[in-house]
Amino acid sequence: MAKSRISRLYSLYGMPYTKRMARVIAVYNQKGGVAKTTTCVNLSAYLALEGKKVLLIDFDPQANASSGLGHPTKLNEGSIYHGLFGLAEPDALTKPTIFYNYHLIPSSQHLAGALIELVNIPEREYKLKQFIDKIRDKYDYIFIDMPPSLSLLTINGLVAADEIVIPVQSHYFSMEGLSQLLEIIELVHKNISAQGLKVSGAVMTMFDENEPLSHKIAGDIAASFPHNVFKTRIPRSAALSEAPSYGRPVILHDPNSTGARAYEQLAKELIAQETPKQFQMPSQMIPAADPRQEQVVTPLPNESFDSAQDMADILIDIKPQVQSEQPPVVVAEEPVRDTAFYF
Ligand SMILES: Nc1ncnc2c1ncn2[C@@H]1O[C@H](COP(=O)(O)OP(=O)(O)OP(=O)(O)O)[C@@H](O)[C@H]1O
Ligand SMILES: [Mg+2]
Repeated sequence: MAKSRISRLYSLYGMPYTKRMARVIAVYNQKGGVAKTTTCVNLSAYLALEGKKVLLIDFDPQANASSGLGHPTKLNEGSIYHGLFGLAEPDALTKPTIFYNYHLIPSSQHLAGALIELVNIPEREYKLKQFIDKIRDKYDYIFIDMPPSLSLLTINGLVAADEIVIPVQSHYFSMEGLSQLLEIIELVHKNISAQGLKVSGAVMTMFDENEPLSHKIAGDIAASFPHNVFKTRIPRSAALSEAPSYGRPVILHDPNSTGARAYEQLAKELIAQETPKQFQMPSQMIPAADPRQEQVVTPLPNESFDSAQDMADILIDIKPQVQSEQPPVVVAEEPVRDTAFYF
């Protein structure tokens, strides 16, 4: 039903002008070894499989995401360090992966030095944001694989992000780390980030179905965490820990493993959070007013729509004869799945 209404809109106005605007997601937990990198590498792969155009920025001097995607660090090669300081443009730093719609900007050991170099430069908290702003409209998702620390690098990552995904290891000390993390997010939210930082959700990682402690911790987090907790839990899976040594995401290593299926499910949960894409119709495409037709105006709501259907329902009631000052907002159809592999 929604589709036919949207098609009618297309026939009224012609094909819409679409523009990507990436969800920029920092995958962060200040605790080390909780599966930040594993989540970045594999979630990105499954989003690419779903037809999304994805960029993974390895923002950790350890460069595990880079090597996990088959790009071991080379000191003489461009990395996010060069992007951070305006020494290279994004295109020069972007590396392909085996998916044509999944790109990587690698890290390097230089990034460890950036901590000191950043201290005395103006707008030091906004360097990554300024870099990402240049390429936001080229991707559907930009992931930032964050380092396990609280530093100027971390602040750059959180300021650049719209959203944060928090991997939480099913481990006794996880809860303690979480309250500190929420304080950090609140601080960035209040003091630095203009548009705020949304918590997309916490995801339980290395979950052991047979271990009562895993269930207890998951239950505690579901009960006390003030934000979304993803329904998908990532199980402990040998395939997930092996895949990086082959320089590939798990989908190309063992796609039938429990770990692979869990990240596939998590990607779908993340996609389900998407709000309808909005774009402005170029003003010359708005049909001129026809005085013979009844002047009925359905006001556009100011707040965002709950679903694409809601938006389509309202739009179809807007008669094209009313020339508004602001071009109407039109909802785009689901993108065509256009994933392909390089072989
Ligand atoms: N679900 C899983 N099952 C088994 N091993 C896993 C799983 N998730 C991650 N691992 C392994 O746990 C280790 C830590 O994972 P990862 O490097 O993704 O964590 P991290 O949070 O990025 O670490 P750091 O804080 O050092 O950046 C790695 O060896 C990884 O292969
Ligand atoms: Mg990591």
